[in-house]
Amino acid sequence: MMRLILMGPPGVGKGTQAKRIAARYDIPQISTGDILREARERNSELGRKAQEYMDSGQLVPDDLILDLMEQTLKNEKCRNGFILDGFPRTVPQAKGLDTLLDKLNIGLDLVMVLEVSEDIIIKRLSNRRSCPECGAIYNLLTNPPSQDEICNHCGSELIQRTDDQPETIKNRLKVYRDQTAPVISYYEKQDLITTINGTGEVSEVWERIFSKLLF
Ligand code: AP5
Repeated sequence: MMRLILMGPPGVGKGTQAKRIAARYDIPQISTGDILREARERNSELGRKAQEYMDSGQLVPDDLILDLMEQTLKNEKCRNGFILDGFPRTVPQAKGLDTLLDKLNIGLDLVMVLEVSEDIIIKRLSNRRSCPECGAIYNLLTNPPSQDEICNHCGSELIQRTDDQPETIKNRLKVYRDQTAPVISYYEKQDLITTINGTGEVSEVWERIFSKLLF
């Protein structure tokens, strides 16, 4: 049983490490970004509403995200814990999550913040490729697929996310500094924050994370 939040700026490695945590502890990875991208693919009402915010690197409005998370966290699959990746991203979302967890009579164990310098982030995001089918994440410099642009796991053609263009990356970093960084202070007051150095190889960062999860 583990209830975690993994925070940090775009491209810091949240998705990469959240997948490892989910597999190691057999808990679901709840990525609001992935859920919104799937909704967009299906052309659902949520996907249509989210599209223009996501493409420009802005945040999707809090009320839409909180409705989505209420439905998600009530689901049976979250009964034995979860790792939240990319949520909450604003102080109102963090407050909304507290209200929701109170209703469900559960609490958080830890909020991990991954940190990496912005020049490394820009390099990582510009070279990211993702699998639209199974969600695997690659990097052309540090973790390329064995076959050019093809997923190692399911053989699908890899894509570059539309928000991984240089101008949009800069905007996402600004949005993080302005709207998401204050969430760290919110959880510091609850004594839940642990900071992790996200530089170095994926396995090194994982070792740092894992050492903090042995509580
Ligand atoms: P979201 O999908 O959550 O994007 P993000 O937070 O910007 O984070 P990313 O997915 O870009 O990066 P990551 O930290 O997961 O890094 P990754 O592991 O892929 O959100 C997208 C959009 O959806 C938002 O802009 C917003 O519009 C909307 N949205 C989502 N949630 C929302 C919310 N709660 N409220 C409102 N709006 C919301 O790694 C990046 C690259 O680096 C990869 O290529 C990877 O292979 C590589 N890499 C990872 N670790 C390492 C390492 N240690 N060394 C070398 N390379 C590495």
